[in-house]
Amino acid sequence: MKQAIILVNAYTQSAAELNQPNRLREELEKYGVRAEIVRNSPGALSRDGDFCVFLDKDKYAARALEKRMRLFNRANAIEICDDKMLTYLALEGFPMPETISSLLCYTPERPVSGTLLDETERRLGYPLVVKENFGSLGKQVYLVRDRASLEKISERLKLLPHLYQKFVAESSGRDVRAICVAGEIVACMLRTHESDFRSNISVGGQGKKFEATGEMRALCREVSARLGLDYCGIDLLFGKDGWLVCEVNSNAFFGGIEGVTGVNVARAYAGHIMREIYG
Ligand SMILES: Nc1ncnc2c1ncn2[C@@H]1O[C@H](COP(=O)(O)OP(=O)(O)O)[C@@H](O)[C@H]1O
Ligand SMILES: [Mg+2]
Repeated sequence: MKQAIILVNAYTQSAAELNQPNRLREELEKYGVRAEIVRNSPGALSRDGDFCVFLDKDKYAARALEKRMRLFNRANAIEICDDKMLTYLALEGFPMPETISSLLCYTPERPVSGTLLDETERRLGYPLVVKENFGSLGKQVYLVRDRASLEKISERLKLLPHLYQKFVAESSGRDVRAICVAGEIVACMLRTHESDFRSNISVGGQGKKFEATGEMRALCREVSARLGLDYCGIDLLFGKDGWLVCEVNSNAFFGGIEGVTGVNVARAYAGHIMREIYG
């Protein structure tokens, strides 16, 4: 009997949160795999299975479980994608907006580095984008318009890893989300927002089906290969000279894009897993 585990975050509860694991289980079952949905826990890490679809982002659990079985995605890929600054560094050479890392601060009573602020505004200009390295759903991404706001936000985020990024004006309120399986774009949507520079659906963006171009396909294939991803959602910005990689989500939700494009993403992912594990 083929068997697998689908590992979800320890605190997963709602039907909405269980949609992704349920859909994957359903599609794996069609291939004859008994897949059990398991919440992250100390005991979960000593389970047996032919493989694990790892839907949490717990890098410690991922590394522990990877000693026992193949993970989809691999632990290293999940860790790099979870951290926007690590992603930027790993994607050196790819077209991305210029990015500056925040500085590690151990002393909350000291004011944020003036050198950091000076260099940031000199290199990036205003407006500029600030992102927490571990943010998602658009919630920890901010647009900063002047020095006073830069100082304020940098002070507030001083103890958290974050980054400063050039604002891509051409892409304000729009981007493209491409879902890739084994590097191939299987579903693609244009996201637009009328009143916010962030186009995430979670902050009110609208999604509609988008025809992926050859250039986008080649870029996404190379990004997936560089990061060692089996599955991901890549956000692409409209740059003035072509596509720019905004970020890579190893654990991208596919419920919304399945609805918008009519593509069965779970089946495509399950198919890839079957080829990898059982040949
Ligand atoms: N440098 C940028 N210039 C213009 N818009 C950006 C830039 N970075 C992010 N955005 C917008 O903000 C959204 C959220 O940023 P992203 O890095 O994808 O973080 P999250 O993980 O929260 O989705 C993007 O989908 C895009 O619409
Ligand atoms: Mg994003």
